[in-house]
Amino acid sequence: QAFTFRLPEALRAAIKHVTVIGGGLMGAGIAQVAASTGHSVVLVDTSEDILKKSAKGIEASLKRVAKKKFAEKPEDGEAFVQKVLKNISTSTDAASIVKGTDLVVEAIVENLKVKQDLFGALDKVAPEHTIFASNTSSLPIADIASSTARLDRFGGLHFFNPVPMMKLVEVIKAPGTSQQTFDALLEFSKALGKHPVSCKDTPGFIVNRLLVPYMLEAVRLHERGHGSKEDIDVAMKLGAGYPMGPFELLDYVGLDTSKFIIDGWHEKDPDNPLFAPSPLLNKLVAEGKLGKKTGEGFYKHK
Ligand code: NAI
Repeated sequence: QAFTFRLPEALRAAIKHVTVIGGGLMGAGIAQVAASTGHSVVLVDTSEDILKKSAKGIEASLKRVAKKKFAEKPEDGEAFVQKVLKNISTSTDAASIVKGTDLVVEAIVENLKVKQDLFGALDKVAPEHTIFASNTSSLPIADIASSTARLDRFGGLHFFNPVPMMKLVEVIKAPGTSQQTFDALLEFSKALGKHPVSCKDTPGFIVNRLLVPYMLEAVRLHERGHGSKEDIDVAMKLGAGYPMGPFELLDYVGLDTSKFIIDGWHEKDPDNPLFAPSPLLNKLVAEGKLGKKTGEGFYKHK
């Protein structure tokens, strides 16, 4: 009885040291949030230059958070920023770092082989109890986990961009994920101040499985000449209460990312009309019009 009573606390205590691999858009955000909630975090990437940029980005983002949170007392804000930054260190040597970590959150390039190689190598050096999690958007967790011998201690933690702002985490239970690991990942998400939802290891989990076909349907509607992109965006904002229209959202997410996801699903399930490729999307990507990040996608951005 006493043991089962104590179990949740023990699990929470278990995830204290976190290694985030990949210091890009998502990894930097995950590291920031984990450090802000009192975890000790090591952020890993392939070069010192990239890590310097990530650390700068984290500091700037923390300062924005502090400015809002401590509007009345800027000195408390500065203390908060310094305290959080103390919780983060950086490294280019994942193998040595994971020796002292409870959880590895991977947010590197969306490539199965690269992710498998990384986890396969880490599996050999990480302690028994260490949980591995991937932030992949489109790859099956089970496929990534297959390069390791810890299928029971492997799950998905799918965050949303921008990580410090977005409350949701999709926690993915692959067929091999143990209940204990899954519970620990749910607890960890809550400890980050996020709202976790439980997902199965299915394409797109919940959010992207609904959102990506929806965005593609908007493009197809427009391709058929049944609505201008401006009208479709206004319609979904004012008629469905969405904060952004589908074309605005595509530009924000990145047209290349959206194409990559839909192409992957289409390859696996070519008869599903929801996953059909879009000539217009393909054309814009071929022209390098990838959305906000390149200055132009469906719209021009300043
Ligand atoms: P990003 O390109 O901004 O960052 C990836 C980082 O990983 C880069 O800094 C790169 O140098 C580093 N990296 C690559 N290979 C590495 C290796 N072997 N070891 C260490 N570091 C390595 O990518 P982003 O957008 O942060 O995405 C990362 C992951 O998160 C992907 O799996 C993506 O599908 C997923 N994701 C992305 C979202 C988004 O909105 N961008 C949302 C949710 C998940």
